[in-house]
Amino acid sequence: MSNEKRLAGEAAIRYVEDGAIVGVGTGSTVAYFIDALAQIKHRVHGAVSSSEQSTAQLKKHGIPVLDLNATGPLSLYVDGADECDPHKRLIKGGGAALTREKIIAEASAQFVCIIDASKRVDLLGRFPLPIEVIPMARSLVGREIVKRGGQPVWRDGVVTDNGNWVIDVHGWQITDPVALEAELNQVPGIVTVGLFARRPADVVLVGDREM
Ligand code: 5RP
Repeated sequence: MSNEKRLAGEAAIRYVEDGAIVGVGTGSTVAYFIDALAQIKHRVHGAVSSSEQSTAQLKKHGIPVLDLNATGPLSLYVDGADECDPHKRLIKGGGAALTREKIIAEASAQFVCIIDASKRVDLLGRFPLPIEVIPMARSLVGREIVKRGGQPVWRDGVVTDNGNWVIDVHGWQITDPVALEAELNQVPGIVTVGLFARRPADVVLVGDREM
C-alpha cells in the first residue's frame, strides 16, 4: 500500500500552482506529498500546516510554514483520509490532527484527498470515527455516543496538538454523514468530529488515479 500512498502523494503535486501557499495535512501519505513538494519548493510561497508532525517535516525541507491568520483563504489543501465514500465524504483523524485539518479544509478552495485503495468504502464507519474532545467532557461525550448506539473508546495517552483528547467511536454504520456531523457538532465538549461530509474532498486521488 505504501507504493500507492507514494504515487498519490506525488500525483497531488500537479494541483500545486506557481506562487501558491499550500495547505498541508498529516499522515504517512501526506509525508510523501511533502517530500515531493520539497522538489518544487522554489515554485511555492510556503505552506500552512495541520500538525506539529507536518510542520517539522516541512521545516526540515526548508519550506516556509505560514500562519493561516496571516495567509487568508488558500487555493489548495492536500490531505489523506482513513475512509472515503463514493461522494468523497471522509473519515479523518487517525493521526489525531482532525481539528486543524478541518480548519484548513474549510479555508481552502480545493481539497485534494490522497489515499490508497484500502481507504475506499461504500458506507463510512468501519474505521472507528475519531472525535476530539475537551478533556473534562470525555465521559459526557461518551454517554452521548452510547445513547446513539456507538461504542466510545478513549485513545488513552494521546493528547492532540491542541491539548485535547480523542475518542474513537466503534460500531456506527454512517448512513447520513452530513446529519451525524451536524448533530455531534451540537454536543458540548466535542471540539471536532472526524467526519468531513459537509465539506467533502473535491478531488480524490487513489494512487495516481483520480476517483
Ligand atoms: C490524520 C489523518 C490522516 O489523513 C489519516 O489518518 C490517514 O493517514 P495515512 O495517510 O497515514 O494513512 O486524518 O489525522
